[in-house]
Amino acid sequence: MKPKTIRGMNDLLPDVIGTWRYLEQNVMKIVESYGFNEIRLPLLERTELFKRSIGADTDIVEKEMYTFKDRNDESITLRPEATASMVRAGITNGLLHNQQQKLWTMGPMFRYEKPQKGRYRQFYQFNVEAMGYKGPDVDAELIIMCARIWKTLNLKNLRLEINSLGNQESRAIYRDQLITYFSEHKSKLDQNSLDRLRSNPLRILDSKNPEMVSIIKEAPVMLNYLDDESEKDFNMLKHLLDNAGIKYTVNPRLVRGLDYYNKTVFEWITEDLGAQGAVCSGGRYDGLAEKLGGRSTPAVGWAMGIERLVSLYEISNERIAIAAPHIYIVTDGDIALQKGFDLAEELRENFPTLRFKLNMGGGSFKSQLKRADKSQAIYAIIIGQEEMEDNRVALKPLRNNEDQVKISFENILSEVKKIFG
Ligand code: HAM
Repeated sequence: MKPKTIRGMNDLLPDVIGTWRYLEQNVMKIVESYGFNEIRLPLLERTELFKRSIGADTDIVEKEMYTFKDRNDESITLRPEATASMVRAGITNGLLHNQQQKLWTMGPMFRYEKPQKGRYRQFYQFNVEAMGYKGPDVDAELIIMCARIWKTLNLKNLRLEINSLGNQESRAIYRDQLITYFSEHKSKLDQNSLDRLRSNPLRILDSKNPEMVSIIKEAPVMLNYLDDESEKDFNMLKHLLDNAGIKYTVNPRLVRGLDYYNKTVFEWITEDLGAQGAVCSGGRYDGLAEKLGGRSTPAVGWAMGIERLVSLYEISNERIAIAAPHIYIVTDGDIALQKGFDLAEELRENFPTLRFKLNMGGGSFKSQLKRADKSQAIYAIIIGQEEMEDNRVALKPLRNNEDQVKISFENILSEVKKIFG
């Protein structure tokens, strides 16, 4: 029996890595051009951190976390998202008090969801968080930064939805309104929603059950209950987006699946990827630092699903090839192989940005050249018996029909320089 990966956890093979790296590096460059710095965080945190941040009555915490006891009998969890860890790191390392931090991080997240196209149990996110910023200027900047990413990467058909969830007090009033409304329609609620009626009625709005659509559609909307400051900020956000020429729709049903949000929430969505259309999602979480035991720190951020970014890129762009060698070195016999080792090292020393592959594992000339061709190398250098005798090698173009040329060992470096600059 062949060993298999765990369901929903994928190997990323070299043929897709070219595109992954291209996208990741571009996103990295763009967010750094806005003043964000990298932070790297552990994949494991105490379970309590996620329960308190994301909320005990959310799908993630109730059903999707990889939680287990370590050898010290402590409950730990593979991170399902990065925001909680970011804020935890801010508190742990004293980065938040009277400071502003613009941080990004990238890596795998783990959620025990039902795997399907675009939804995995180990998936990768690019995450940015601006902590110590009360907004809404930075909220707008984060969204504008996404638009720049789409433009730079030639990604098409992404639309933006925004909403405001108000502050704690206005949301408490809204919550009561929702409880009243849904209680009046109890007979139409599914079990999941009934369970959430008292504990977390906002989550009912997030239901994916098609039978709940009509009842949710008629529910009161948060935007009608906004406090003055949230309303002012939301208007300013819209104004800044208009000013930047960014189109959006206000979706009053956008509540997001995590409890830490307030005020601005947003999602960039595409119809091109089927059911899993959210490519980048985020919002403001002004209360989280304090909730986790730090000082009150207003903050906002987003996370982009890299698998979805890659899929969207591949719809309208060619896959980016793996980094092929510039030169593949073919040798005949032990002495030629030794020469090949010396030459390959000399080339690597002199051309650190080029890639050289020395044939390993022997083989006839024919099979070595076949490997050279398969490697997508641009040239082969051939060190054969005959070439050794007159102190020369053959330089053979592999990607066109030009003839091979003989060059002396002394001239190899200058010839490679001439070709690759
Ligand atoms: P989220 O909406 O749970 O938010 O995830 C953000 C993005 O990660 C989604 O829009 C999607 O692209 C991707 N994603 C989520 N789950 C999966 C999955 N199972 N498979 C593949 N991709 C997935 C957060 O995680 C928040 N921490 C975002 C945030 C940052 N809010 C403020 N700062």
